[in-house]
Amino acid sequence: MCGIVGYLGKGRTRQFVVSRLKKLEYRGYDSSGIAFNKDDKIDNVKAVGNIANLENLITDENEVQCAIAHTRWATHGKPSVKNCHPHSSQSGVWSIVHNGIIENYQEIKEKLKTPTDSDTDTSTVAELLEERNAKTIGDFVEVFKEVQGSYAIVAMNSNALDELFIAKNRSPLYVAENKGEYLVASDPICFVGFAKYYYSFNNYEYAHIKNGKIKFFDAYMNELKKELVELDDCFEETQKFEYEHFMLKEIMEQPEALKRQVKTYRDTNVLAKFNKEFIEKFDYISFIGCGTAYHASMVGARYIERLTGIRASAEIASEFIYKEPVFANEKTLFVFVSQSGETADTLMAMNIAKEHGATCVALTNVLYSSLAKQADYVLPVCAGPEIAVASTKAYVCQLSALYMFARHLNNQIEDKQYNYLKDIELVSSKILDFDQEKINHIADAIKDEMNPIFIGKDLDYIAACEASLKLKEVAYVNATNYPSGELKHGFLALIEDGTPIIVFATEDKVRTKTLNAAHEAVSRGAFQITITNDGGLGYDNLIVIDVDNEYLMPMLEIAPMQYLAYEVSIKKGINPDQPRNLAKSVTVE
Ligand code: G6P
Repeated sequence: MCGIVGYLGKGRTRQFVVSRLKKLEYRGYDSSGIAFNKDDKIDNVKAVGNIANLENLITDENEVQCAIAHTRWATHGKPSVKNCHPHSSQSGVWSIVHNGIIENYQEIKEKLKTPTDSDTDTSTVAELLEERNAKTIGDFVEVFKEVQGSYAIVAMNSNALDELFIAKNRSPLYVAENKGEYLVASDPICFVGFAKYYYSFNNYEYAHIKNGKIKFFDAYMNELKKELVELDDCFEETQKFEYEHFMLKEIMEQPEALKRQVKTYRDTNVLAKFNKEFIEKFDYISFIGCGTAYHASMVGARYIERLTGIRASAEIASEFIYKEPVFANEKTLFVFVSQSGETADTLMAMNIAKEHGATCVALTNVLYSSLAKQADYVLPVCAGPEIAVASTKAYVCQLSALYMFARHLNNQIEDKQYNYLKDIELVSSKILDFDQEKINHIADAIKDEMNPIFIGKDLDYIAACEASLKLKEVAYVNATNYPSGELKHGFLALIEDGTPIIVFATEDKVRTKTLNAAHEAVSRGAFQITITNDGGLGYDNLIVIDVDNEYLMPMLEIAPMQYLAYEVSIKKGINPDQPRNLAKSVTVE
């Protein structure tokens, strides 16, 4: 949620700073702004809408030496120029950009002598810095003793335009240097082409950049020594190349991403540490995630129960954190699934599990993320950078990692050598084998229908959940998902002539049951589309998956549905990469 960039150096154009900000547009695109040094003061430019609108307002190519920029996903206050970052204190001495939520902003507001001029929580911190007469990094750090919540903040001061002030707690923040020039950003993706190495901040850490040098501090102003981290090569993937949208590119990249997943698991033998001795310590495995990662968690729990016989469940992180965590103890293994590794609810859930003495695994695409850093073990997801808001390749790679994990545990428990890597190679070779033209026709048929329903049983039901989520996210379609056996307990009342019913029927043991449920809907006027591995079904609108392994179906049956959602989005004139009101990385509760 929200992306921030800071620059301090000998001079760059504002276009340069904004071009770095554009790499963070996946974090929010309600409005954006930049503050910079001009004639010994701080000036700024702000625009509502995506970053292209801000770019249009920056016409000259004059260089600036100090700048902070922000792309917003609104939490406090609607998207408007008034609420757009950077936010300044009343006299304009402090200007700040912020990612996160200041939880005690009301309390700070009441303490302030001057009212703030926006509806945001962020303005209160800018004003507090001014009212506490902060001048030095020591003063800046002192002010944060009064601030509670999550924040990645970069600040500039009009009396010290050759300095940047940085604070971080629970929102990601990184900094890179190149020949005395500094870039600060909420994702290392911004450093591609600028630096090969960067520093990462931990919670309650601060930094001060001045005279071509950076100093890091803890909350007591003890100076910290930090190690540089090497920038991952895969960040180079963050271009659209010949594709019009990242979502389509990422769907089409799935075979390559799966190959990388197999290669990583084979070459690094990451699963070796989950041996017999390890797994015998647990009698329960709990998977936790949000959104698409929650659907991956559901599949993970099914894989574990079926393949290992260990009890397993999946929980939505935002629900888990308010539940009585009765099963969180040293006999429970928690697996936290998150593409970004920065989802606030998932991080909070991990903290709760740890407080109860549980062992925590992070299954994540971002190995430098907070979730990965805080976990006892990491299971890498090797999808490469995913930019489109709706997750596609990361989901399929999460499933592949969960599948290999469950098979590996099964090998340990039964002392055998099942080669699960080959299965994922098979998925990689088959995943794009669907007929794009047919999906295109189906997209035409359903694009104006208001209430399509996705049904299935067991693993097929989870595919139905994920497919309907994709359609909601990128095509604004009120798609519903139901376990097929539940249709007659209420949903049938909503079936009208032409209601699309998308039926997942790939599992042998439940196929007939699901198809029977679909027939009941069709008899009442529904229009059926079927995804199955039984090519002999003589139905219209059949999408056949030609693989005979039910465990691989959750990966194979979702790809045509991702493509369907993409097509419906395009036909409705929506930009699937930036659906309204959403953001890719939800770093606030
Ligand atoms: C947001 C994104 C979804 C994602 C979810 C969880 O809602 O739009 O695509 O599934 O967050 O994100 P995570 O990074 O934890 O997987």
